[in-house]
Amino acid sequence: MNVLLINGSPHARGCTHTALTTVAAQLEKQGIASQMIHVGMDAVRGCIACRKCADTGRCVFTDDKVNETIDLLRQADGLVVGSPVYYAGPNATLCAFLDRLFYMKAAGYALKPAAAVVSCRRGGASAAFDRLNKYFTIARMPVVSSQYWNSVHGNTPEEVMQDREGLQTMRTLADNMAWLIKCIAAGKAAGILPPVPEAWEKTNFIR
Ligand SMILES: Cc1cc2nc3c(=O)[nH]c(=O)nc-3n(C[C@H](O)[C@H](O)[C@H](O)COP(=O)(O)O)c2cc1C
Repeated sequence: MNVLLINGSPHARGCTHTALTTVAAQLEKQGIASQMIHVGMDAVRGCIACRKCADTGRCVFTDDKVNETIDLLRQADGLVVGSPVYYAGPNATLCAFLDRLFYMKAAGYALKPAAAVVSCRRGGASAAFDRLNKYFTIARMPVVSSQYWNSVHGNTPEEVMQDREGLQTMRTLADNMAWLIKCIAAGKAAGILPPVPEAWEKTNFIR
């Protein structure tokens, strides 16, 4: 069992990384492996809505980690996305990355437990957290909860390490995700079939 962690921050070893490593360490205690990829320093194009991925399952841009992450996520049992809070939202590089990771590809991710964690100095964590959860809920991914909304506070990793409640929230999140991943595996072994989605009634509100 393996959880994919995505660090959207430009700081490979910053506050978001501190939150994600806390999740990873607790997952390991629960017998779940994890792999972290760092995308926040990459030059990531935004989605150009060419819809080529509807035919190929891959993005037309091949000079960043989006396509390899599509493969990693299809193989993973769970996902945790980490972001710094920029103007009360996830950072722009991460949003560009996730738009292309998710658009037209959600069928490969459905029913994998997912969660977002965010890091802020002071405010906007809840709005950024809400925005990230939208990727999961439109992709039929069960959102894993913790004991609070998943945020840590600090401007440096050292400050985050002093946020005892934030770190506890990360550990509780990992415990809950490990439990859900194991429950899904047990259900599968017991012959419980995944729900079959209906054909999409896409109305655009005009017809
Ligand atoms: C462009 C920019 C915008 C930011 N906006 C916010 C904000 O809205 N609220 C906040 O509390 N911190 C804000 N910050 C601070 C970071 O969110 C905070 O330091 C975060 O913990 C950094 O995480 P990192 O070390 O993983 O990059 C901002 C930082 C930058 C560079």
